[in-house]
Amino acid sequence: MSNGRKPYIAGNWKMNLDRARALDLIKTIKGRLGDGSNREVAVFPPSVYLADVAAVAQGSPLGVGGQNIYFEQEGSFTGEISPRMLREVGADRTLIGHSERRHIFGEPDEWMGRKVRLALDGDILPVYCIGETLDERKANRTDRVIKRQLEAGMADVRDSDLRRVTIAYEPVWAIGTGEVASLKQVADAHATIRKWLASHFDKEAAEPVRLLYGGSVSPDNARALFGLEDVDGVLVGGASLKPDTFIPIIEADI
Ligand code: PGA
Repeated sequence: MSNGRKPYIAGNWKMNLDRARALDLIKTIKGRLGDGSNREVAVFPPSVYLADVAAVAQGSPLGVGGQNIYFEQEGSFTGEISPRMLREVGADRTLIGHSERRHIFGEPDEWMGRKVRLALDGDILPVYCIGETLDERKANRTDRVIKRQLEAGMADVRDSDLRRVTIAYEPVWAIGTGEVASLKQVADAHATIRKWLASHFDKEAAEPVRLLYGGSVSPDNARALFGLEDVDGVLVGGASLKPDTFIPIIEADI
């Protein structure tokens, strides 16, 4: 971590918890957060709990976001939600392109740029997720996949938007598996992303973009990850579901 970028710790609750446990969890996190001046913390609850969770978070520095959006503001898109709807229930950000969306639900690269653009236009901060599968890593295609996903997701992003975008590198094989990428693998991937940004955007515009690592982040490995130069935060799944594991991650860089 370096360069004055504010550390960003994000909890992706996926399709977990129930309403009561979600509210307990957000209250506990809120109570432990302080004034939020030295880090940014956000949670991404199931969309049906968003309004309630956002209501608890209101007035605190906690961010609350959706786990996905569609790339239209409204229409006949059964099951989808739009950036405008997220805003209306008190969310200020969203994940886009999470590997479970890509690999379980078949979301193609071509959608990603439109989603990122519509999020920005709707005043929703995108956390754009990318990362290679195990087969792609074994075939030495990690860099190529990362660049392809960046090209797709960032296609319609302008220099002036860039500081509102966060990129999460999450190797698919490390998500929910307990197998965290090695520090070298993380450092290499983040360096690739950083370099790609610097060569596709104005240097000054690219500088504030935060790069998160995700994939089996835990209290045991968070501090070492935060120690890497190009890691500006973490996107946490399983360990974000309990205060006992999420709070130590939030506080790992102190
Ligand atoms: P995990 O999930 O921490 O449970 O591996 C991370 C993610 O999918 O964002």
